[in-house]
Amino acid sequence: MKSKAHIKTHPLHPILISFPVAFLSGTLLFDLLAVVTGNMSLWQAGSYLELAGMISAVVAAVPGIIDFKYTVPPDSSAKKRAARHGLMNSAMLIVFLAAYILRNNESADLSILALEAVGTALLVTAGWMGGTLVHRNHIGVYNRYANGGKWKEARLNVSDGLIEAAEESELKKDQMKLLLVGDKRIVLGRSENGYVAFDDRCSHKGGSLADGTMICGTVQCPWHGSQFSTETGEVKAGPASQKINTYPTTQMGGKIYVRFPEP
Ligand code: FES
Repeated sequence: MKSKAHIKTHPLHPILISFPVAFLSGTLLFDLLAVVTGNMSLWQAGSYLELAGMISAVVAAVPGIIDFKYTVPPDSSAKKRAARHGLMNSAMLIVFLAAYILRNNESADLSILALEAVGTALLVTAGWMGGTLVHRNHIGVYNRYANGGKWKEARLNVSDGLIEAAEESELKKDQMKLLLVGDKRIVLGRSENGYVAFDDRCSHKGGSLADGTMICGTVQCPWHGSQFSTETGEVKAGPASQKINTYPTTQMGGKIYVRFPEP
């Protein structure tokens, strides 16, 4: 799913985390060497690395928080994983901060080393989760299939039960657009039979269908491949077992409208 914190579609969070990962794991390495060799200049270097690691971790967290709030699909397995990833990184930062405050620049200390080992273990575990978020949940990955066109998204209001969703010419066949309507996410798609609208949430584990592939009246979830009919919402292929909601569409005056369900 395309990141909301990016430069020319390259997500910032995975770029920036290289710095705290290198600095904080380097802290443990330099401090370990200082304890083994008794060389206090290595211990001093560890102190600098620790400070640089914490500062760069806070900087890297900013695009991460933006993606957590605006990119990760709500009510999904990835949202829970991203929350655990953020909590674990916060705990990691607290542990390294404690080690930094408690360290004595006159002598290399095993208890500081133990704290940093715990912090590094948290860093590695949180990093592993981050890898799952990218490589399995495609968070920050700009998936575009042949003829899928660029990512389209708009925040819209409901008026008289209708959403003015798009200009008639906006979507080509097999293209989709994500509509954010209050806290609801609806996908507008154009199939060979006309316009279709359906929930953005895959009924399996909440993958974003707007981030998937739509072809021949079928939309496929990018996470585990479930397929749904874009006209009826019926499951065509699992692992999903429940249909998704679909919504009527209508064309008027060169615009496409989606009829929003009455509350
Ligand atoms: S979330 Fe698993 S197939 Fe969609």
